[in-house]
Amino acid sequence: MPETTFRKIGVLTSGGDCAGLNAVIRAVTAAASGRGWEVVGLRQGHLGLLQSPPDVTLLTADSVRGDLLRAGGTVLGTTTKGDPFAYPAPGGGTTDRSGEVVAAIKGLGIEALVVIGGDGSMRLFDRLLAPAGIPWVGVPKTIDNDVPGTEFAVGFFTAVEVVGQALDRLSTTAASHSRIMVLEVMGRDSGYIALYGGIAGGADVILMPEVPYDLDQVAAHVRRVTHDRPSAVLVVVAEGVTQPVEERRKKANVGLAVARGLQSRTGFDARCTVLGHVQRGGSPAAYDRILASGFGARAVSMLANGDSKRMVAWRGGLVTDVSMTEVIGGPRFVSADSQMVRTARRLGIYLGEGLEARYPG
Ligand code: F6P
Repeated sequence: MPETTFRKIGVLTSGGDCAGLNAVIRAVTAAASGRGWEVVGLRQGHLGLLQSPPDVTLLTADSVRGDLLRAGGTVLGTTTKGDPFAYPAPGGGTTDRSGEVVAAIKGLGIEALVVIGGDGSMRLFDRLLAPAGIPWVGVPKTIDNDVPGTEFAVGFFTAVEVVGQALDRLSTTAASHSRIMVLEVMGRDSGYIALYGGIAGGADVILMPEVPYDLDQVAAHVRRVTHDRPSAVLVVVAEGVTQPVEERRKKANVGLAVARGLQSRTGFDARCTVLGHVQRGGSPAAYDRILASGFGARAVSMLANGDSKRMVAWRGGLVTDVSMTEVIGGPRFVSADSQMVRTARRLGIYLGEGLEARYPG
C-alpha cells in the first residue's frame, strides 16, 4: 500500500503532565521531519486552539535537538480544564465550542494529529476529531498507568522511581526511630504506582483502590512482621483508597488516616508523607524515555500507513498499537491475578482482603 504523506501535522499534550512528554514531542517531530512533514505544536492541549490567533509553535528537527529528551513537564503546556463541548460561558453556564477547535485545526492546515494524553483525553479527541474526519493517533501518558490497551504509559516508571527513592529515604528515618512510615502516593482509581513503587521500595503493606482492606488486619500484619516490637515499617497507600470508617468525617488525607489508625492499634509511632506532584515532576527515567521514543516514532509511522483512531501501546516488550475503541472505555485497574500482585503476595506484603482465597501465594 502506498504511504500516506502529509504537508503538516499537529502534536499536543493533554491532561495532567508527567515526565517523558517532551521526549514524545521530540520523537514525533524528529520522525515526521524525517519524512519532510511540517510539525506544529499546539499549546495548552485544545485550549490554544480556542485563542485568536491559535496559540501554536513550529517544531523542527533542530528545535527539538538537545535537552528536550531530558526535560520534565511539557514545553507545549497542557490542560485538564475547559471541556470544549461544555466550555464555561462568561455569564455562567456552558457553551459548545467544539466546532471552533476543529475549525482552528483545519484553518492551520493541519492534516493529522498526534494526541499525547490519558484515557480521558483520548475520549475527548475521539469525540472532536472522528466526525471531522481528521486522522489522528494517540500516545498514552499518565503516571497512574491506567490507560487501557497498553501495559505501560509514559510517565509511570518515573513516578515509580520517585516512590522507590522516597521509600529508601523513609526507611532510614523509620529505622532510626522504630516508626511506621506511611507514604501516600498518587492513583485516584488504579493502584499501579502504589504496587510497583511499593515493590521497588520494599514496602510491608500496599493499599490500592482496587482491593478492600481492614485496618485491624493491617495492624495485625504490622505486629507479625515486627514480632510486636516497634521497628521500621513501610506502608504505601494510594490516594484513591477508601478512608478508614473511623476517619471518614475528618476528611484527612487517607495516608494520614491510615497512619493514625495504625498508631492507635499497634502503639507504634507512625508518620505520614504525602508525595503528591513530586511524582509528576523532573527528568524522565530511562524506561520512560525508551517508551516515549518508541511511541513517538511509531505514531508517525502509523499516520504514514494511513492508520487513524488508534493508540500506540506497549505489550509483551514491544511497541505496537490498539484500536481507540479499546482505550476509551477506561480507566484500567490492577487485576487481582496480575503477576506483580502475585509477586507482592509471595513476598509477604499485605495487599488487602479478599485476595487470599483466590491467590494463596
Ligand atoms: O491522573 C494523574 C494524576 O496525577 C492523579 O494521580 C492525581 O490524582 C491527579 O492527576 C492530580 O491532578 P491535579 O494535578 O489536577 O491535582
